[in-house]
Amino acid sequence: MKKKEFLYEGKAKKIWTTDDPSVYLVEYKNSLTAFNAAKKDSIEGKGRLNNLISSALFEYLAGHGIPTHFIRRIDEIHQLVRAVKIIPVEVIARNITTGTLCKRLGVEEGIRLPRPLIELCLKDDALGDPLITEDHALLFGWTTEEQLNKIKEITLKVNSLLSEYFLSLGIVLVDFKLEFGTDGEGNLLLSDEISPDTCRFWDRDTNDRLDKDRFRKDLGNVLGAYEEIWRRISGSGK
Ligand code: C5P
Repeated sequence: MKKKEFLYEGKAKKIWTTDDPSVYLVEYKNSLTAFNAAKKDSIEGKGRLNNLISSALFEYLAGHGIPTHFIRRIDEIHQLVRAVKIIPVEVIARNITTGTLCKRLGVEEGIRLPRPLIELCLKDDALGDPLITEDHALLFGWTTEEQLNKIKEITLKVNSLLSEYFLSLGIVLVDFKLEFGTDGEGNLLLSDEISPDTCRFWDRDTNDRLDKDRFRKDLGNVLGAYEEIWRRISGSGK
């Protein structure tokens, strides 16, 4: 399937329509941004790795009953997905305290939470994706109550599936961000991407950061970390 009309360019991906109105084509870019794009760079090969990693993880989740937008990967940097309308609420799940949670609340870093913590943010770059409550999401009509309940249920299921999967690869899933969309028939589908850009991965044995924190915190060897995630996933037969 070929690119038809250019639709949208985000920080890490470009989206085109295709000959099938229910299918979009996604291109994964090499650009890397942090702190709401205040810090930017481009790393050759990053788009390819995120396309490979995200495709494998969406396939894994679909195989475990999660409804997703993912159809198939078509080459190194492109994949086909169901055309969805993105719900403007980003869902963050956290297992271990770090990142903006610690900055915002002054809590200690690296504490395992007694159960997964779910946070909602409004997807709005101009506002810096502010943290919102469930009431904000409902009262301003960003999601329905039914969608919100499903979103929370799916996020917790994704967290348990991926935590277990990554642990089998020697990786601790610290936290991650999900996005959801609705297709033409109103079905709620897990959308966007799941990659080292959108998750925090810590090596179980060394505590090495294997994700975008290497870029955020200038730890070096960003591509090497993404390659390591792909090396373990591709070696796992999943
Ligand atoms: O920065 P923060 O600690 O809030 O990030 C929590 C998790 O959500 C991290 O895994 C981060 O990569 C992801 N995230 C994201 N996109 C955002 C905000 C956070 O992928 N806009």
